[in-house]
Amino acid sequence: MEKVRFGIIGVGGMGQAHAKNIQEIEETQLTAVSDTDKKTAEKVSKEYKVTGFTDYKELLTSGLIDAVIVATPHYFHPEIGIAAMEADVHVLTEKPIAVSVKAADSLLEAAKRTGKVFGVMYQSRSLPAIRVAREIIESGRLGEIRRTLMVNPDYRCQAYYDSSTWRATWAGEGGGVLINQAPHGIDLFMLLGGMPSRVTARIRTRLHNIEVEDEADALLEYSNGAWGYYLASTDEAPSEKRIEIVGDKGKLVLENETLKFYSLKTSIPEFTLKNKAMWGGPEVVEEKLEFPECETGHSAITRNFARCILQGEELLSPGEDGIKSVEFINALILSGKKNKPVALPVDREEYKELLESLKKSSQAKKTVKVQRVTDPHFNK
Ligand SMILES: NC(=O)c1ccc[n+]([C@@H]2O[C@H](COP(=O)([O-])OP(=O)(O)OC[C@H]3O[C@@H](n4cnc5c(N)ncnc54)[C@H](O)[C@@H]3O)[C@@H](O)[C@H]2O)c1
Repeated sequence: MEKVRFGIIGVGGMGQAHAKNIQEIEETQLTAVSDTDKKTAEKVSKEYKVTGFTDYKELLTSGLIDAVIVATPHYFHPEIGIAAMEADVHVLTEKPIAVSVKAADSLLEAAKRTGKVFGVMYQSRSLPAIRVAREIIESGRLGEIRRTLMVNPDYRCQAYYDSSTWRATWAGEGGGVLINQAPHGIDLFMLLGGMPSRVTARIRTRLHNIEVEDEADALLEYSNGAWGYYLASTDEAPSEKRIEIVGDKGKLVLENETLKFYSLKTSIPEFTLKNKAMWGGPEVVEEKLEFPECETGHSAITRNFARCILQGEELLSPGEDGIKSVEFINALILSGKKNKPVALPVDREEYKELLESLKKSSQAKKTVKVQRVTDPHFNK
């Protein structure tokens, strides 16, 4: 196999961006698309001169594809991913891998059982700053983590929420900022800072005319005694993102795509207990970091996924990692809704029950002005 033959399931805003992207990668070829909306399926299949389906199951058994990108609304990701793997098709799913941890568990189980290549579109993992931050943490230069922070805003206006029936509803999307805009940041936060063992969260709908949360924050506790802080919102601008990971040998600060690493000459516990002078503090050096020249964005993840199929290249964004952000998101929603601290891993049945009751209370939207427009930040 020289090129991986791709189908795309769900060719709205994001799916169409993937269609264009696949054309531009040497290792990939677009051979089929599917969308439940007949007009959309026809429009995109015509534009790219590939076969179009309205039923994704027909696409899976068509013999036209080796792999699929799943770019439908979130609730369908596990169902379609499992069906694809069982049809002997590799799966690159859009984020989040699922709305609930229980559904994510079944997707991971299918990947393990079928042995198909399984990736998730967390393209920020490809950024040079993230690759370097991971190396610093994995090499032990940061030391043991003492404290974390993430401020994770991603502004959206009301027209965005009004652009589809599924957006910002419990029944169609399964949450608000946490399940849609925040997962990229949360994925990085879990990747660099690790999973907390307990969260105490608040969630609210502060500004938008939507039934799900547009703001969330949480106090985090980690199993080694570290504390952390998290905030997500779609109601502040500019959408400047910040991650701080403080270790006992240094501190990493990520502001958008700019990374700084401060290392300590003596570790915090050692200096604190041994230093004799009253106003002493550990010597801090800001290290000069070298960043690799590398491909970034969606193309980097799609190419790496294709190379994993073709040559066994290690995945930058394995699908199995996708459960970490779902675990965190479910924990925050459960804690915020029940007004209590929640331990991770989340109780699967408790979250399922909560989500079912929220879905039951979900209202059909009164104002919908459909727009299927690709995010202009695509591939950044
Ligand atoms: N990685 C990223 O940067 C990024 C950016 C935007 C969106 N996304 C993700 O992409 C997904 C889609 O978002 P979007 O903004 O493109 O939404 P959208 O509403 O523009 O498109 C979704 C499309 O899926 C189709 N669809 C719905 N159910 C389907 C089914 N069962 N089978 C086939 N097609 C179906 C709809 O008709 C629609 O055309 C979401 O999961 C979202 O989180 C990822």
